[in-house]
Amino acid sequence: MVRKITVVGAGNVGATTAQRVAEKELAETVVLVDIVEGTPQGKGLDQWQSAPIEGYDSRIVGTNGYAETADSDVVIITAGIARKPGMSRDDLLNTNAGIVKQVSEEVKKSSPAAIVIVVSNPLDVMCYVAKEVTGFPRQRVLGMAGVLDTARYRAFLAEALDVSVRDIQAMVLGGHGDTMVPLISYTSVSGIPITQLMNRQTLDAIVDRTRNGGAEIVKFLKTGSAYYAPSSGAVQMAEAIVHNQRRILPCAAWLEGEYGMSGLFLGVPCKLGRNGLEKVIEVELTGDEKAALAKSADAVREPMKAVKL
Ligand SMILES: NC(=O)c1ccc[n+]([C@@H]2O[C@H](COP(=O)([O-])OP(=O)(O)OC[C@H]3O[C@@H](n4cnc5c(N)ncnc54)[C@H](O)[C@@H]3O)[C@@H](O)[C@H]2O)c1
Repeated sequence: MVRKITVVGAGNVGATTAQRVAEKELAETVVLVDIVEGTPQGKGLDQWQSAPIEGYDSRIVGTNGYAETADSDVVIITAGIARKPGMSRDDLLNTNAGIVKQVSEEVKKSSPAAIVIVVSNPLDVMCYVAKEVTGFPRQRVLGMAGVLDTARYRAFLAEALDVSVRDIQAMVLGGHGDTMVPLISYTSVSGIPITQLMNRQTLDAIVDRTRNGGAEIVKFLKTGSAYYAPSSGAVQMAEAIVHNQRRILPCAAWLEGEYGMSGLFLGVPCKLGRNGLEKVIEVELTGDEKAALAKSADAVREPMKAVKL
């Protein structure tokens, strides 16, 4: 357990994240921050009152300021607007860039040693905003998207094969958008290559559904986007860091030559431990996968250029 984890944004993703962090007792104190007066205080108090029933000792506090967040070990940024039907993640660009910039300035001042996990969309570009504004090294700024995209892919595969989700190993790389790259060559069921268990047509349909996994939920909800699985993804990354698990998870990381690319955040396999990003793991890719990753990188670079810091 670390001393303090701050979750910025007390909306759907943020509040669910805070609750999951507390239930897993990842930190002594969980601070929930939002600009809306009363929302983080009310949700924090409500969540803290579930502690005697759920049996956790993490203390949750809600606030509109950053004094309570001082010296957080991990900060999870979920502040920003979410998609509505018909919107792409890039439609959120300018509004969320301003929000993530303001939050990052506060994080830099109040928690200069924190490891930052960005969740706000468009994810890869918001990671760039957080890294530029905080000035933190790449070890301490990571984005959550690949864990979620991979979880969706694994869930669809488990359903189609009628097997436990636990036995599906998979990796989805690239940017968090329609150009994400599910790696079929690294998808297996308890070590059995997926291509031995499923025909290509079914697999392609699942890959396609994974790419549109977020939009499928937005269409159902109408007024917002997914948050149960996204919060699970953010908390899995926080857990790997807090417990120094050295897990290999697909995360958005700042590339410095890996996969032949530099100067952007992209979803790649990362080893996560107490220092944050311990290593970017480079895996062999097929020609098609390399081309798809390059296309995904282009889709991240484009909105990155449009961001004014
Ligand atoms: N990376 C992913 O895989 C993933 C998955 C789901 C959602 N998201 C993104 O996460 C973000 C949050 O989604 P949500 O469903 O929780 O939205 P939401 O609207 O429920 O919550 C967002 C919260 O941010 C708060 N906020 C706005 N400006 C703020 C500021 N300057 N400081 C602090 N708080 C501020 C709002 O008041 C609101 O409570 C969105 O950008 C969404 O697109 C990312």
